[in-house]
Amino acid sequence: MNYFDRQPYVVAVIGAASGIGKATAEFLAGQGVTVACIDQHESGAKETASAIKKAGGTADALAADVAHPAKLQAAIAAIIETHGQLDGLVNCAGITGKTNIKTHEVSLEDFDRVYEINLKGALIASQAVLPHMLKRGYGRILHVASIAGKEGNAGMAAYSATKAGLIGLVKVMGKDYAETGITINALAPAVIRTPMVAALPDAQVKYMTDKIPMKRCGELEEAASLIAWIVSPACGFTTGFTFDLTGGRATY
Ligand SMILES: NC(=O)c1ccc[n+]([C@@H]2O[C@H](COP(=O)([O-])OP(=O)(O)OC[C@H]3O[C@@H](n4cnc5c(N)ncnc54)[C@H](O)[C@@H]3O)[C@@H](O)[C@H]2O)c1
Repeated sequence: MNYFDRQPYVVAVIGAASGIGKATAEFLAGQGVTVACIDQHESGAKETASAIKKAGGTADALAADVAHPAKLQAAIAAIIETHGQLDGLVNCAGITGKTNIKTHEVSLEDFDRVYEINLKGALIASQAVLPHMLKRGYGRILHVASIAGKEGNAGMAAYSATKAGLIGLVKVMGKDYAETGITINALAPAVIRTPMVAALPDAQVKYMTDKIPMKRCGELEEAASLIAWIVSPACGFTTGFTFDLTGGRATY
């Protein structure tokens, strides 16, 4: 079965320069999807788009910070202007902030920065695409949350709290738009080996990996293929849900 039986099918991926976003952009392009690669790092977004084009796919690159509404709205408007439509949004922009620290040590500045990107950024991104999707009566939105938002990872107060907030936001949006042809879901991965994880203290990574019953990290392709299905027309009867990608850590 081809999950993307509608062509053209256009998906914007925020955070496409690295990790899960980059892998998802490349996977989607391999399925015939036109991919708009958005990242705060323009050179990284361009690199992903170039790699996709080199492999025979269709992609363009745009620079935008998910925490800046005007810039993100301009990027989304440019995509719609170029392609005439936007079918899906995958939001992978996220930061951990300082980790491996007790909650009383969390600085308010660090907490605010993590909130701006992980939670407020998800609202900004959703608001940027929803008017167009409502007009068309079709859309797929996927925000990457985290198992930390479901379970609360020790040493990661800002990250866990904002990812829990994101899961709550997705539950609300799923209901708000349930009758519009738009689905809005989240994904809660455990540990996937990406530059974000490589930058964490070893103790923090060990704490997270030890909790995975499969006793391994998730692979980028395992994340990308699940995300691609969630933003495809095939995933039509699930909204407001947080999909699991944890090697058995969460079973609910
Ligand atoms: N890797 C994991 O184990 C894991 C586990 C659970 C959840 N996640 C979540 O998955 C998402 C992707 O993580 P990753 O591991 O691929 O990280 P990564 O650091 O490899 O990639 C994140 C990308 O997002 C971009 N980005 C960050 N802030 C941005 C902003 N304000 N505006 C635009 N782009 C921005 C970065 O430039 C980078 O290219 C994050 O939301 C993360 O919290 C990752």
